[in-house]
Amino acid sequence: MKILVTGGAGFIGSNFIYLLLRERPEWEIVCVDALTYAANIHTLNEAAKSEKFTFYKEDIRNRDGIYAIFDKEQPDTVVNFAAETHVDRSIENPGIFLETNVLGTAVLMDACLKYGVERFHQVGTDEVYGDLPLDRPDLLFREDTPIHTSSPYSASKAGADLLVLAYFRTFGLQVTVSRCSNNYGPYQFPEKLIPLMINNATHGKPLPVYGNGLNVRDWLYVEDHCRGILAILEKGKTGEVYNLGGHNEKTNIEIVRTILRELGRPESLITYVGDRKGHDRRYAIDPSKANRELGWQPTVMFADGIRMTIRWYTEHTGWLDECTSGDYVNYYARMYSGR
Ligand code: NAD
Ligand code: TYD
Repeated sequence: MKILVTGGAGFIGSNFIYLLLRERPEWEIVCVDALTYAANIHTLNEAAKSEKFTFYKEDIRNRDGIYAIFDKEQPDTVVNFAAETHVDRSIENPGIFLETNVLGTAVLMDACLKYGVERFHQVGTDEVYGDLPLDRPDLLFREDTPIHTSSPYSASKAGADLLVLAYFRTFGLQVTVSRCSNNYGPYQFPEKLIPLMINNATHGKPLPVYGNGLNVRDWLYVEDHCRGILAILEKGKTGEVYNLGGHNEKTNIEIVRTILRELGRPESLITYVGDRKGHDRRYAIDPSKANRELGWQPTVMFADGIRMTIRWYTEHTGWLDECTSGDYVNYYARMYSGR
């Protein structure tokens, strides 16, 4: 088995590569990543020691470059993690989200058709379903919930999902799509809620909570997401969508308070700032299809996962410092100063 993983220098892709190296040691892994701001090449230092691992710095929008890699490597399976992923950045600059998330996905699928790749998996998000009301805890996202996006990020991911399913119907490409809730764990870039709050709390900086802090996200430990993708590759039915999530809904303020408590920092660091435009209220996944058809279920309880995550960041301050030097300083000023 030779698997080509795009976006493998990012958060979830790198965790997926490490899961494969541990649990599918006979598989050959080809990683393709453009190394955007969201990647940290040191994330893959351990993987690079394996003779089963090959890395290419390439942009999925670059058709010639992608075709050359497929021609050389002839992968059996492609898993597409590569994407622009941060909602706030998509509000600032939607164009790059359309280019990478929609057109880049099309380039990869064209390469699959051209080079006879047997299977294409698209890593999608629950954000394509839009949001749920806060006062209806009975409502959950199912695979047949209508697509109803709020942000340029989620709209671009929905466009990609629809294109992937169109390639199944029109060209017979053997595809699957997963739609997962919010992930947390090691190697997440500190622009996202949990690593940003851990980083700020560690440095005694204010913790910027958008709006009233009562928006709800459904958190899943990243390794459980990666196990779900592996289960879909090995047991999933092509042409199908699978939701992945852990029935673990938390308000943002609960998350922030947990981080402060675990790090022994005062709640006076919490600062309420202006809300995100179009801010989705609540995400909540119904993962029963993946459970029923694949036998998949989360294995890490939130109380354990968040402690492991906080410990990882406090033990990898060098990794965090690499992410927060350079352009991050400008990004942070643009996004938060005077907000
Ligand atoms: P990330 O931002 O941490 O990493 C994205 C990776 O893709 C980076 O390594 C980056 O360099 C690479 N990349 C970006 N543009 C590229 C391009 N044009 N060509 C090649 N590589 C490119 O993202 P993540 O959180 O690991 O998310 C991975 C996937 O999972 C995304 O498709 C995202 O939509 C989806 N997802 C994420 C979450 C979450 O909570 N983080 C939840 C559900 C789904
Ligand atoms: P984020 O990690 O950006 O994920 P997403 O918006 O894709 O779910 O944000 C998670 C939640 O945390 C979201 O409701 C916005 C909120 N948030 C803050 O309150 N402050 C912040 O600094 C960030 C980055 C997010």
